[in-house]
Amino acid sequence: MRDEIRFLLGDEERRISDIDPTMTVLNYLRREERLTGTKEGCAEGDCGACTVVLGELSDGAMRYRAVNACIQFLPTLNGKQLLTVEHLKAADGAPHPVQTAMVEAHGSQCGFCTPGFVMSMVALQAEGGAMDRGRIDDALAGNLCRCTGYGPIIEAARKMGPSQALKGGPLDRDSIAERLAAIGPDGALALVSDGTRYFAPTSIDDLSQLLGDYPEACLLAGATDVGLWVTKQHRRLDPVIYLGAIDDLKRLTITNGELEIGAGVTYEDALEAIAEHAPDLGELIRRIGSRQIRNAGTIGGNIANGSPIGDMPPALIALDARLVLRRGENSREIPLEDFFIAYGKQDLEPGEFVEKVRVPLSQAGRLRCYKISKRFDQDITAVLGAFNLSVTNGRLQSARICFGGMAATPKRARACEAALIGKPWNEITLAAARDALTEEFQPISDMRASADYRLSVARNLLTKAFIETTQAETQTRLIGPGALALDSADGGTRV
Ligand SMILES: Cc1cc2nc3c(=O)[nH]c(=O)nc-3n(C[C@H](O)[C@H](O)[C@H](O)COP(=O)(O)OP(=O)(O)OC[C@H]3O[C@@H](n4cnc5c(N)ncnc54)[C@H](O)[C@@H]3O)c2cc1C
Ligand code: FES
Ligand code: FES
Repeated sequence: MRDEIRFLLGDEERRISDIDPTMTVLNYLRREERLTGTKEGCAEGDCGACTVVLGELSDGAMRYRAVNACIQFLPTLNGKQLLTVEHLKAADGAPHPVQTAMVEAHGSQCGFCTPGFVMSMVALQAEGGAMDRGRIDDALAGNLCRCTGYGPIIEAARKMGPSQALKGGPLDRDSIAERLAAIGPDGALALVSDGTRYFAPTSIDDLSQLLGDYPEACLLAGATDVGLWVTKQHRRLDPVIYLGAIDDLKRLTITNGELEIGAGVTYEDALEAIAEHAPDLGELIRRIGSRQIRNAGTIGGNIANGSPIGDMPPALIALDARLVLRRGENSREIPLEDFFIAYGKQDLEPGEFVEKVRVPLSQAGRLRCYKISKRFDQDITAVLGAFNLSVTNGRLQSARICFGGMAATPKRARACEAALIGKPWNEITLAAARDALTEEFQPISDMRASADYRLSVARNLLTKAFIETTQAETQTRLIGPGALALDSADGGTRV
């Protein structure tokens, strides 16, 4: 295992060993490198002011992703390239085409948010493809602006044109790919600094062994939950075991009608495969956090974190997913719903970790899931309802229903299911099933929603599922699968 982090800052190599492993990339940039173009707004992944772009080798070519520097820890840069707004200008000092587009479209006023927007746009441009309004909205939903307003910024994104091949400097893909290959991949690391230990194993076996040695360790995947423990709760984490260098945890495969998702697969990497088989689940993933969060956050982290308002568990439970857990040499497989025991308590032994989740695909296409939050994008769920209903000849053959935000854990609506199974799927059955929901859930009131609101929403989501499964012609959605065609090339907004 190496005891130093190696990465490219722009096109300059950095080798660092003596640094707090939980220092954020943002603090490193601003305090150590004095690169202050990257701003701190919220320090919790919400505002996008700290957006930077990570370049990585993927099958020998460069791949770029926007992430929030405020919640990423410095050692996770190992083997990668870090690009900030300071790296965009050309050798002759000319601004990057994205910056020029922002100037021409009057996309900046006070300028505090501007570097973050620019970096999100640079990552979008690097992806290639047509710049339609949907893609622009999706790429920029994690960047907030208080003064300019979004119209000019979106206009700038439309104007920025395709990514250009540059020779020399931080944006020269070919030479950076060679440099990254030379400094070595995101390999195994063991750092100790200031009493904090940080390990980055590269295989599942090494991870098992390390966790056996340090069962109290904090596992770190995309850091979109863990990062906030440091920036907001000022928790000291030691030791930290990073999962992002383990390729086997990043595999997503389909075998025997089952989608197997490694715990380290990010939302963005899972999105396409999941959306193909379960369109509603794809749309749900598209609404998790922002592009920056989905580029870093993992499905395994969402499950392991055990939040009652995590988005993936209710949908996956409705699909009858199973969880594979590993400890030492031993694996066990449990129904995902059994993993959540009580608030903050999951069925995870010391030294055990989530290896993968298995999702049967036979029922995936009929999953309906609805996320209710105050904002459409980049917001945490108040109530999430996931419905897996099988209806033949007007009668419900089976029903698996799970809610998030309605109890201390993601929770199956078993009484509601019992009121449905074997019954004709009509208004009378619907009314009985709605009543069953009222009986079996006692949600709490908090800052996101009151208990009454949550219960009303849950009942109404069941009605929505009823309408969608019995009245195909009725339009129930403005966006997502089955939506009105609202392409917004004309600037139309989502509701
Ligand atoms: C701005 C913002 C918006 C967000 N929006 C949403 C949202 O819309 N919906 C939503 O559901 N969540 C949201 N989240 C929460 C977060 O993004 C997700 O929970 C995410 O999936 C966590 O994954 P991660 O890889 O970042 O996990 P990490 O933060 O690295 O880890 C989370 C927890 O899981 C543990 N862990 C990670 N991997 C494993 C493993 N393989 N085995 C055992 N334990 C493990 C860690 O030790 C930690 O306890 C948001 C977060 C932020 C900051
Ligand atoms: S500072 Fe707000 S997202 Fe990082
Ligand atoms: S220009 Fe001031 S916050 Fe966006």
